[in-house]
Amino acid sequence: MNKPSLKRALAFALAMFVAVSLGACGGGPKPDVESGATAQAEEGDASGGARAVFSAKIGISLPTQNLSHWNPYGVQLKSAFEAAGYEVDLQYGGDNDIYTQLTQIEDMIAGNCAVLVIAAIDGNSLTTVLAGAKEKNIPVIAYDRLIMDTDAVSYYVTFDNFLVGVKQGEYIEQTLDLKNAAGPFNIELIGGDPADTNALYFYNGAMSILSPYVDSGKLVIPSGQTEQLAVATEGWNTEKAQARFEDIISSVGYGPNGKKLDAVWAANDSTAQGVTDALVNAGYTKDNFPILTGQDCDFQSVRNILAGLQGMSVFKDTRTMVNRVVAMTESIMRGEEPEFNDAETYDNGTGIIPSYLCEPLICTVDNWRELLIDSGYHDESLFSEVLAEIQPSPER
Ligand code: BGC
Repeated sequence: MNKPSLKRALAFALAMFVAVSLGACGGGPKPDVESGATAQAEEGDASGGARAVFSAKIGISLPTQNLSHWNPYGVQLKSAFEAAGYEVDLQYGGDNDIYTQLTQIEDMIAGNCAVLVIAAIDGNSLTTVLAGAKEKNIPVIAYDRLIMDTDAVSYYVTFDNFLVGVKQGEYIEQTLDLKNAAGPFNIELIGGDPADTNALYFYNGAMSILSPYVDSGKLVIPSGQTEQLAVATEGWNTEKAQARFEDIISSVGYGPNGKKLDAVWAANDSTAQGVTDALVNAGYTKDNFPILTGQDCDFQSVRNILAGLQGMSVFKDTRTMVNRVVAMTESIMRGEEPEFNDAETYDNGTGIIPSYLCEPLICTVDNWRELLIDSGYHDESLFSEVLAEIQPSPER
């Protein structure tokens, strides 16, 4: 048996065990079937089956509420799981605090959650704590970010992270018309938090499009900061991205009247907002703003897109991933194998993790209304101020 199918077989066996433990087959999850039950299946009861031992509580561990990306996820995950009949233990790891997240996950394991859904702050820090989940046969779904070096992870639900980077790179390629224009163009790079496994996929995806132009000299990176770690932003923090970009502006001499800056690849919206603040403080306006990418369609970045300060974002409809993880959990609880659409990309060091990759979409000033407002993702009132500013006043 090859590694992925072995992994799947193990996950499936694990799921069967949990479902049997829950007595969930055919009847759906049964909350708190035995108060004070241990997490071990007890053998040899009268029916010859295992005694129900887990409550149908789902532990959800998210990184932080300080990045706006994670707030809709918390609200939507909680209400979707509750609507499906589960009890939910939702925790945020303070301000991206690894130790807080570890403790919260430990408590979820001690509290016998039936399934853990985890978006890791640091994808490399959960090996020990998740050994505890494995011991108790609690399936773990890595949510949005892959968790490394633990065989406790059964499945991974995410957006196609490499494709996110590709879409950002392609936006820069098309907007600068790199295939045809002579160049050279000046570009700078602002990456994500290297502790987050996604950051490398975003960087690699973007660079798969941009690197050939850097190699040919059509794109120049005047700061000289090119490698993933050199362009990283700890905690995806807006102020840190701003501080780094201010340094770049002054050391390279960029400015509306200085060296021309054509494009900035920012890995997501929280970092793009830091770049925007630095550029606005340096005197840039919508008339001379460089091309700037982002990701998440945070409402502040959408405002910036409408105001002509950010070129694009990548729309990752949080509702898609929430529905997917609930469906995956339900399959696990029923003892069925959840649907996945990728069994080759995400190796967490212990083998390939069967993954469901959702599709990211490009969002610009041309399609933002259809993507975000018509779909009910954002409320239009969030943008009324900027819309009033950009709309020409009615003629008398
Ligand atoms: C997510 C991005 C998000 C970033 C910071 C990443 O893991 O995939 O969508 O922008 O974390 O919150």
